[in-house]
Amino acid sequence: MKPIERPDLGGPFPENIAIIMDGNGRWAKERGMRRVFGHKAGIDSVREITTECASMGVKSLTLYAFSVENWKRPRVEIRYLMRLLRRFLIDERPTLMENGVRLKAIGRIDSLPQDARDALHETEELTRENTGLVLRLALAYGARTELADAVRKLAKDVSAGALDADLIDDETLRQYLYDPEMSDPDLLVRTAGELRLSNFLLWQVSYSEIHIARCCWPDFRKPQLLDAMKDYATRVRKYGGLVMDHAPARERA
Ligand code: FPP
Repeated sequence: MKPIERPDLGGPFPENIAIIMDGNGRWAKERGMRRVFGHKAGIDSVREITTECASMGVKSLTLYAFSVENWKRPRVEIRYLMRLLRRFLIDERPTLMENGVRLKAIGRIDSLPQDARDALHETEELTRENTGLVLRLALAYGARTELADAVRKLAKDVSAGALDADLIDDETLRQYLYDPEMSDPDLLVRTAGELRLSNFLLWQVSYSEIHIARCCWPDFRKPQLLDAMKDYATRVRKYGGLVMDHAPARERA
């Protein structure tokens, strides 16, 4: 694993980052190409952002790669995205290993095509012992679906007597989400200038700082990642409380 080099952001470092990768289609259209070429170009950004996050010592990066709503897209685009996903999961194995990245997935994984699921399972197994960045791909993911799936499991445990309904709190609910080990994102980035959450990690982003990048995902590279991190470093996080007097002056401003 390569040595970690944290950039000086002039403020707190975002340990957990989540990204809504938007604008692949627009990027391609602007260049007179078909939408799918935007998705293909988006893979280069996924690779660069993953390796940069790993080398900066980011703990967790969660990428919105395919939403439950994306099943409504034309069949040909879905098929292309699934093929791209499978190829990514196979081709990126050496890069993931070299950078100590552990790959995980969240979402309704059972709804993916079998060959993509196999490649996903094998990459998860291969990278299981890696101790650096955890790269989570949100696949066939929707936050409302995640909450519905969680509540269904939780209700079954309550009716089986395995869980006391009176003791349910935030942390209990977290245990029923797709990946209970996932920390809440410090920083949520969305590309292509849109100001929406699009059903992504609604429970987990309750107190995330949001950064909107104007560029489309295929143009989101290391400089844009650093801009997002620097923007985060200027934020004052109060979680509904007050900033304490002993905080550095910059935070009290
Ligand atoms: C949004 O762009 C992007 C997606 C729906 C898919 C994201 C997928 C990739 C970056 C490539 C595959 C990733 C992995 C990890 C294998 P859009 O198509 O909605 O763009 P538009 O809003 O301009 O139409």
